[in-house]
Amino acid sequence: MEGREQWGTRAGFILAAVGSAVGLGNIWRFPYVAYDNGGGAFFIPYLFALLTAGIPLLIMEFTMGHKYRGSAPLSYARMSKKTEWIGWWQVAIAFVISTYYSVIIAWAMAYTYFALGLRWGNDPGGFLMGDYLQRVDIVNGAAIGTVGSIVPGVFMPLVLVWIIALGILFKGIKKGIERANRIFIPTLIIMFLSIVIRALTLEGAALGLEAFFKPNWSKIASPGVWVAAYGQIFFSLSIAFAIMITYSSYLPRKADINNNAFIAAFSNSSVELLAGFGVFATLGFMAKQAGVPIEEVATAGIGLAFVVLPKILNSFPGFNGLFGVLFFGSLVFAGLSSLISIVETYIAAVQDKFKVSRTKAVVIGGGLSALVSILYATQGGLFFLDVIDYFINNFGVALAGLVSVVTVAWFLKNLRPFQDHANQISDLRTGLWWRFCLGILTPLVLGYMFILNLVDNLKNNYEDYPTLFLIYSGWGVVIATILLGFILATLKWQAKDLDATAYLDDEGVEK
Ligand code: ALA
Repeated sequence: MEGREQWGTRAGFILAAVGSAVGLGNIWRFPYVAYDNGGGAFFIPYLFALLTAGIPLLIMEFTMGHKYRGSAPLSYARMSKKTEWIGWWQVAIAFVISTYYSVIIAWAMAYTYFALGLRWGNDPGGFLMGDYLQRVDIVNGAAIGTVGSIVPGVFMPLVLVWIIALGILFKGIKKGIERANRIFIPTLIIMFLSIVIRALTLEGAALGLEAFFKPNWSKIASPGVWVAAYGQIFFSLSIAFAIMITYSSYLPRKADINNNAFIAAFSNSSVELLAGFGVFATLGFMAKQAGVPIEEVATAGIGLAFVVLPKILNSFPGFNGLFGVLFFGSLVFAGLSSLISIVETYIAAVQDKFKVSRTKAVVIGGGLSALVSILYATQGGLFFLDVIDYFINNFGVALAGLVSVVTVAWFLKNLRPFQDHANQISDLRTGLWWRFCLGILTPLVLGYMFILNLVDNLKNNYEDYPTLFLIYSGWGVVIATILLGFILATLKWQAKDLDATAYLDDEGVEK
């Protein structure tokens, strides 16, 4: 498309892709997921999912964005009009994720401030649920599903998160996203490395690392562990929710797709591993202090970052506040660079389809998402967040990944042309393994896992939440994203948008 913005430099694109991938998923999600799914044994499914699905899919999405030069709906529509709905579906998933993702960044922002005076006191669990989130069931004795009133301590940083994210997005690709990532990523690396190095030198660190790495072979046979590994890889690499297609649509014609994908994926996994080291080393420290086994101090995702870490910070040998600021500040920076990539998916889609200016698209898309996010800044918000996060990842992102790969590989038989496209411009060339992974392995493994997971969730209510609550805030949201995909795909494009000349290269050749 004429006039489509481009990244200023190759490094700019790589930083943006890494900035998108490295996020809340790496720092608070990965350590617990890995631990809960067999510690060391998790690395086998994790590496398998990374090498056979994560990187191949990342290359596929980079290729689609680069080849068709459009937001996800436009790229899918250019690939085949019949598949446009998949692009909109992925954008709808991104929209849902952005609504709660922003709220977790807001908590991290508040906690960066709380860390200065260790405001959570001696009972960080009680502080988080009662004093800070004012959970509706604890404070008002109300039932799950009750919204309650807005919690100012969440709402105020949430407003700030949206001002920063939308402020960057207003400025566009090169002057906004690229420039912001040039600041966010180095800052994140310095802050995060300082805390990881400190963690590794704490007394008892080895104990924690042992728990993290000790393989639990009995777990590897469980399908749940594999589901968790694929889920982690997809969320963490920002694949199957429109982001990487959108970001690569701003690449210049001459861009190394394969290498860029490997660099982004390995950088992302390195941060993930570092987060694992850091968190478990500190858990080891805590276990040693309390004289209990490590299993007793490890806990679930949100709890791990916002309850256990404050507890550990309380008994840190020195500079407690500073390390708290470094940890929660890292979460804020990692989260912000991912949030802008998630929001960019629908800004780009609105711009492409409705031909509005970037400013209008940011106001409409970002504004709507910001409004919806207020739901999670209420006293009942945590339950909505928990259920929506679970359902949108298990039945949104994972399913969208499966549908996209099956469509590209089986229905449109596009793997070979996509591979030729990427290989032509990349130093590193992919071969049969890439087509085998995407054409056979990934659809079979993902399909099998999806069915198992679906059956399990139809039989057992997630976290024993009331069925009605799960229907409207879990299943309902998942189905709504699919329906929205189909509905938005019925709107007409301008004829020239889907005309192949719109995305041919300067020589008029579709590369
Ligand atoms: N990829 C982003 C994360 O890991 C969404 O948080």
